[in-house]
Amino acid sequence: MEKDFFFDDGQTFIINADIFTTKKIAAKSIDLIVTSPPYNVDIQYNSHNDQLTYDDYRDFSRRWMKRCFTWLKDDGRFCLNIPLDKNKGGQQSVGADLTTIAKKTCFSYHSTIVWNEGNISRRTAWGSWASASAPYVIAPVELIIVLYKKTWKKTSGSGESDISRKEFVEWTNGLWTFNGERKKKTGHPAPFPVELPLRCMKLFSFVGDVVLDPFMGSGSTLVAASQCNRKCIGIEIDRGYCERAVARIKKEGIQKEGT
Ligand SMILES: C[S@@+](CC[C@H](N)C(=O)[O-])C[C@H]1O[C@@H](n2cnc3c(N)ncnc32)[C@H](O)[C@@H]1O
Repeated sequence: MEKDFFFDDGQTFIINADIFTTKKIAAKSIDLIVTSPPYNVDIQYNSHNDQLTYDDYRDFSRRWMKRCFTWLKDDGRFCLNIPLDKNKGGQQSVGADLTTIAKKTCFSYHSTIVWNEGNISRRTAWGSWASASAPYVIAPVELIIVLYKKTWKKTSGSGESDISRKEFVEWTNGLWTFNGERKKKTGHPAPFPVELPLRCMKLFSFVGDVVLDPFMGSGSTLVAASQCNRKCIGIEIDRGYCERAVARIKKEGIQKEGT
């Protein structure tokens, strides 16, 4: 049996467990999932092997997406932050492949946001330098695939939006440009910036909604949720990253009275 939540302040909840076995989340209880799963690019995580064969990686993705599908409400949404492609360890069309897996898991496709990470270089090799014999091409962008469970029109929740007109105009343009996050600041090897989940929440969920990040890492999604008054649950297999997330929520989140 799992113990109580690793962290619980009535608004933010951390589950220190494996996404494949946790029983803490009820079916049809989540309004929005925002997550960045492991990319399988040999990141040195404490408790996860990020160097599976591509077939095993696709199977891993299929299995965790199935769990997320169950947890979402019928009008729930899913913002999936993944790479466009990769060339480390062999070229793969990761964005296209994971979108296909999501659709096969019964998610409906809505749109794709391209995130231009100003300060991140994805280049690992040139292939053949200044020669057409075997050059490598890699785009300094990631994707946020926007999917939903059954109906795109959202009927559950408070109905209260907190997005400004300026933000709405800017963010519905599917090319987002802001910097990636520094590993040093978060104490995690592959964080995304708080700006990413914050935009997804304000664009795709109502104030007071329940947001889930099943690959919480250092808790960037939880920090964003506390800044815009959403409830948020994070699942993370590694205890050290859970501790890091608690410290970040206390430092960067907005504390509610009495917590
Ligand atoms: C790309 S990182 C997420 C980073 C996060 N967005 C942040 O800003 O810090 C993926 C996370 O998934 C966690 N993870 C990998 N396999 C897991 C599993 N089976 N269950 C729960 N967490 C897992 C890893 O430990 C890692 O922290």
